[in-house]
Amino acid sequence: MTKITIVGAGNVGATCANVIAQRELAAELVLLDVKEGISEGKAMDMIQTAALCEFDTRITGVTNDYPATADSDVVVITSGIPRKPGMSREELIGTNAGIVKSVVEQALHYSPAAVFVIISNPMDTMTYLTLKASGLPKNRVIGMGGMLDSSRFKYYLGQALHVPVTDIQGFVIGGHGDTTMIPVVRFATYNGIPVSALLPKETLERVVADTMVGGATLTKLLGTSAWYAPGAAGASLVEAIVCDQKKVIPCCVALDGEYGQRDICIGVPVTVGRNGWEEIINVRLTDEEQALFNKSADAVRAMNNVLTGICG
Ligand code: LAC
Repeated sequence: MTKITIVGAGNVGATCANVIAQRELAAELVLLDVKEGISEGKAMDMIQTAALCEFDTRITGVTNDYPATADSDVVVITSGIPRKPGMSREELIGTNAGIVKSVVEQALHYSPAAVFVIISNPMDTMTYLTLKASGLPKNRVIGMGGMLDSSRFKYYLGQALHVPVTDIQGFVIGGHGDTTMIPVVRFATYNGIPVSALLPKETLERVVADTMVGGATLTKLLGTSAWYAPGAAGASLVEAIVCDQKKVIPCCVALDGEYGQRDICIGVPVTVGRNGWEEIINVRLTDEEQALFNKSADAVRAMNNVLTGICG
């Protein structure tokens, strides 16, 4: 019997829960929030769609009741404040680091065998913080960003080619930041045909630029950060874990020399299954791609260094 906990019943947490419930990825789903009534209300609203959407997942909403999350197989962390228009994800660190650290410690106490999926921003640094604060084996800590950014990359490629997004393959590596993510055009295909053979250079540059500010574009429109795609990306990552899919997914994981980096959590393609991330796929980058990756890692590392002041 699979049990999943989602911490944070805001827009992203609730959307993630909704997708998980509709796909029946768990027998039991716990939605936890610090704000009384929010998770209880959203869980009840969601469960009242069960007869309509035909799913069987039991959804419980709780206020800060960590014992209710006990023995979860996966814990998804969405806690913290979202960004406002004009803000970078990095600006959230001061508030979110303390929140995420406390959530991780409490959730881990009750679910010592869980795989932790991190969605809170700044996502790369929050993943690194989770790894350090929990002392968990590195495979059980996964940041979600690359899955979301890759979905946006595929969307923009599909739009540019006027083809269904499901016929597009592609991935984004590096940090989950407006200036740190790297949509890898060289490996993107439309049903196996390199997109570089189908689209002019300027169009591809626009696709890359639009992907990189994909989250910021939505924040500007919505007045807060996006939730449908972030929530669904989290749910798809959970699916790969609980269904032991061994899918290759670009995720934020701890590197130990791979891609020329160590002591950092950053996005690279990995296989994902029941034990969390299982294997890093070592794609051979060109010198130019590697230089971008190193620059991205420098920026993520600079953000990680801020944690020393915040979390000791
Ligand atoms: C985004 C936020 C959730 O990219 O990071 O939409």
